[in-house]
Amino acid sequence: MRITDRQIEHYREHGYVIVENFLEPGELARARDEIEVYIPGWLGYAANPRGAKPEGWDKPARSRRTTRFPFPGTQLNAITLHPELRRFASVMNGQQALYCEQSDLSYKCKEHPADKDQHMHVDYINHTLAYPPVDPTYWQTTYLVYYTDVTEDQAPTAVCSERHYANEIRWPPFHSPEERPSLYENEVKATVPAGSLLAYSVRTFHRGTAFKKEGARVSQFISYSPAACPWLGINGWPEQGTRPEFRDWIERAEPREREIFGFPAPGHPYWSEETLAGVGARYPEMDLSPYRDCPKEEIG
Ligand SMILES: [Fe+2]
Repeated sequence: MRITDRQIEHYREHGYVIVENFLEPGELARARDEIEVYIPGWLGYAANPRGAKPEGWDKPARSRRTTRFPFPGTQLNAITLHPELRRFASVMNGQQALYCEQSDLSYKCKEHPADKDQHMHVDYINHTLAYPPVDPTYWQTTYLVYYTDVTEDQAPTAVCSERHYANEIRWPPFHSPEERPSLYENEVKATVPAGSLLAYSVRTFHRGTAFKKEGARVSQFISYSPAACPWLGINGWPEQGTRPEFRDWIERAEPREREIFGFPAPGHPYWSEETLAGVGARYPEMDLSPYRDCPKEEIG
């Protein structure tokens, strides 16, 4: 297990955990190869900030619509569905079925529009329409996977343990240093080597910090929710349904992987002669036999 029991306990106690060197060297290298094709020049610039900045570095980041799962290639998609990320999210929410609500690539450098010293905040405000209770049944787990080294100078994410605000209703969701200095005095910065992971709850105060020196940071936001709660989730995957990359991914995925993105499971009453014909027409390469052959569930 790459995420140890001790790290799981740390998350339960503090609302976050840092897992250094989470990715195996091969996974990290393949992911970086894909990133180099996707956003050329950013990794090279991060490694050598004395060199030229990537082309278009000062343009606002492409919107989440265009830096979102599925990615060209296979490794960033595989990391989105990483068995350890799924296991950890599942342990946190009591072994419920999961919904992957987010997988976005994020990149920024000094003076980039996203280079900001943020105020402490909780992320639930754009991950649910309701409020995230302490009951783990409703826990959403958010991850940041880092693809470049993050030192004190390279905009580390800062996070403050839940111990400092346990039993408080997390409202308002933002606090300035003047309003709530203790959140800042007790922050821990995720300074980590490339391939590391920060997991934090949508109830945990954290913030992005600014670059102190020239440099760049490339990371991936991945979030999981319990599948049974349709009020949870930062986005809806059908919005991506017209992208050829999505068609390619969904045609080749396993039924269990498709379910994690909200696709109806084998045996669901949704499946009929009509829906099998329609889904087959839309996704000609998809093997429909699991949906055709599975007996219908009794939905009472
Ligand atoms: Fe945040």
